[in-house]
Amino acid sequence: MENYCKRLSNGINFNFKGITFCSSLWSNVASAYTPYDKHYIENFLERRHKTIENAQKGIFPDYCNKCNSKMHTHDNIDESCVEKIKFIEIYHWNQCNCACFYCSNREETNLKITEKRNQKGAIDVMPMLKKLKKLNLLDEHTEISMVGGEPTILKEFPEILKFAIKNKFSVNILSNGILYEKYISKAINETQNTTLIVSLDCGTKEMFKRIKGIDKYDDVIKNLKKYVKETKEKSRNVICKYIILPGVNDNQEEINKWIDLCTSIGITNFFITLEFCKSANDPKKENIPEEICQLYEYTKTKIKEVNPNFSVSTYSFVDEFVKNRSYKVGH
Ligand SMILES: C[S@@+](CC[C@H](N)C(=O)[O-])C[C@H]1O[C@@H](n2cnc3c(N)ncnc32)[C@H](O)[C@@H]1O
Ligand code: SF4
Ligand code: SF4
Repeated sequence: MENYCKRLSNGINFNFKGITFCSSLWSNVASAYTPYDKHYIENFLERRHKTIENAQKGIFPDYCNKCNSKMHTHDNIDESCVEKIKFIEIYHWNQCNCACFYCSNREETNLKITEKRNQKGAIDVMPMLKKLKKLNLLDEHTEISMVGGEPTILKEFPEILKFAIKNKFSVNILSNGILYEKYISKAINETQNTTLIVSLDCGTKEMFKRIKGIDKYDDVIKNLKKYVKETKEKSRNVICKYIILPGVNDNQEEINKWIDLCTSIGITNFFITLEFCKSANDPKKENIPEEICQLYEYTKTKIKEVNPNFSVSTYSFVDEFVKNRSYKVGH
């Protein structure tokens, strides 16, 4: 059998633009998306079946031939479950209760700022998840990724978590942490590897306001403490993230404050990354400044110095950017 990307064979992505295979297609190729009309799930499953049949013969969609996905390039097909869905990505909406100036979704999805839980402009995913389950299309080790907008303010969010808990599916939740949701802790405790990654990006209330555009620092800290407390020995799955933002939080002082703050909350798993959504796609930006690369390395070392038992998570492609001092690696 031809070896090819497992996202094609095992992925399904409820995207802002329609339903598709993976998140790497974000915004680029209109034909990659099946529109959300009345029979979209049936239409997509039919298209998916034909696409997989072709892939097995070595014929790939144009977007896969041109794919330079930094995330999934080396993700090869899992032959044990061809056509079973293993990766469900829920990226289909554009509402958020925050206003991070760096947000990659702002232009791509015309992000809307809203406080209350809602489902404006987005299809209902839950009936489709139930349908896929009934059709026996979901692998027993399915992972659900919830991104958004802000997943915690999606009306269906608690239902999706309950569905995951019931089926023992792990969920990757990327959240700003402003709104507390008790099913997050339940999912961490009752499934194998549910994670909550909160982009804090700072160590102080002032910097939080500057980056996030709103005054919700206290809520985020309170919620993080609650998640750590509720998940006890699984609290390593509550992860705190820092995006190095040039000219804003790109100094050792802020990094040290972030590490101290996280330590005081009880966080033991740290995620460090660069701002890449804009920079990596900007043809004028190729080289990454030496100071930024050094700060990235400093952060990794410093976390381990503070406590060798702390975990440091990264994106492997960002490690590669830093190693090569360039955003254009692998393109
Ligand atoms: C668009 S956000 C949506 C989820 C959620 N609202 C949050 O902020 O975590 C998805 C992820 O992309 C990251 N992100 C957003 N803009 C970025 C950028 N310009 N560079 C790097 N990461 C970015 C966020 O930190 C978050 O982990
Ligand atoms: S090859 Fe690229 S575009 Fe195709 S399914 Fe995989 S990640 Fe998506
Ligand atoms: S919280 Fe997430 S979706 Fe909202 S503005 Fe920030 S990065 Fe964007």
